[in-house]
Parts: sequence; structure tokens; C-alpha cells
Amino acid sequence: MAKGKRKSIVKYILIVLLVVFGIMQFFTINKTNPKVEEAKDLIAITTPPADIEKMIRTACYDCHSFETKYPWYSNVAPVSWFLGDHIEEGREHLNFSVWGTYDEDKANHKLHECEEEVEHKEMPLDSYTWTHGDAKLSDDQREKLAEWFKSKMTGPDKGHHHEEHEHEH
Ligand code: HEC
Repeated sequence: MAKGKRKSIVKYILIVLLVVFGIMQFFTINKTNPKVEEAKDLIAITTPPADIEKMIRTACYDCHSFETKYPWYSNVAPVSWFLGDHIEEGREHLNFSVWGTYDEDKANHKLHECEEEVEHKEMPLDSYTWTHGDAKLSDDQREKLAEWFKSKMTGPDKGHHHEEHEHEH
């Protein structure tokens, strides 16, 4: 008797979970990419060598540009919410599609951050490379990409930020 009762509780819980999951699916994320103005795009502006362009496009552009390619599971809540958050937050911090609107100070600061994030293996996010094998960067690639970001810094502060930061450690 008791066994039968437990079974029906499990069944009840499963049904509730299924219903909750079903309801979650109504809360979709907005996947319309804003239009890209070519003249403001980092890659259009800086014309990096092909290998660098490829790294940036495959490892960064899904979260740091308006050219996000949404995978099929971006249709499935709650994974979709997790992705949507990363994309929104990623763009907020750094958006290569509006690179041309950054003034020199801001651009230099972001380039410096990019150099560091890539060097210290903070970016691209691990949760991204688990599902995007082609976005995984080797140590060699990281070094090259970090160097490139650094080389794009301009003005008298070039390289200065870096030293300053290293002294903090
Ligand atoms: C899966 C999405 C995702 C990918 C892919 C990704 N980022 Fe990020 N990035 C984020 C999020 C979210 C933040 C903000 C929160 C944080 O710092 O963890 C961020 C923050 C940053 C910041 C800090 C910006 C600031 O000024 O605060 C830099 C720099 C950065 N990313 C560079 C890169 C570079 C370069 C790549 C490619 C090599 C990359 N990211 C790939 C999601 C991503």
C-alpha cells in the first residue's frame, strides 16, 4: 500500500515539474540582433589579419557584438535565460559592433582589458567553450590575440596600463 502511495507522489511531482517547465517555455528571450553599422564595427575599422579576425569572430562575437548566432537550445528555457543574460551583459561591457562610438580613452581601456582577459584565460567564458569547441583558444592563439589587442592601443599610455597593473600583483 505504502509503496503505491509513494509512486503516486513521485508521479505527481514529475507532472508538476513538467508543467512548470512547460510554462517556462512561454518566457522566450529576444533574439533579434540590432542592425550592424559596418562603419562602427571593430573588424571593419581595424582590419586585423585573417587569423586574428577568425579568432575574434568565433570566440567573442556571439556575446560582444550584434552578430550573435543563437544555437537551437537558445529556444529552451531556462538555458535560454542563462544565454540571454550572458549576451546582454557581454554587450553591455564591450560591444565590438559599436566600437566606432568609443572615444580613444575608452577604446584603449577596452583593448587593455581584452588583452588581459585573453591572456588570463578569462575569456571566452568556459561555459561557452564547452559548447563551442571552435572557440577554444590554444596558448599560442591566446598570445597572438592578446598581442594584437595590445598593438591596437594608441597614444602616450600605450603599454603603460599594463605595467601599472602588473605592479599590483
Ligand atoms: C559566452 C559569452 C561571452 C563570450 C564568448 C566572450 N565574452 Fe567577454 N564577457 C562576457 C560577459 C558576460 C562579461 C561581463 C561579466 C564578466 O566580466 O564576466 C564579459 C566581459 C568581458 C570584458 C570586460 C569588459 C569590461 O570593460 O568590463 C572583456 C574585455 C571581454 N569580456 C573580452 C572578451 C573577448 C576578447 C572575448 C573573445 C576572446 C570574449 N570576451 C568572449 C561574455 C562573453
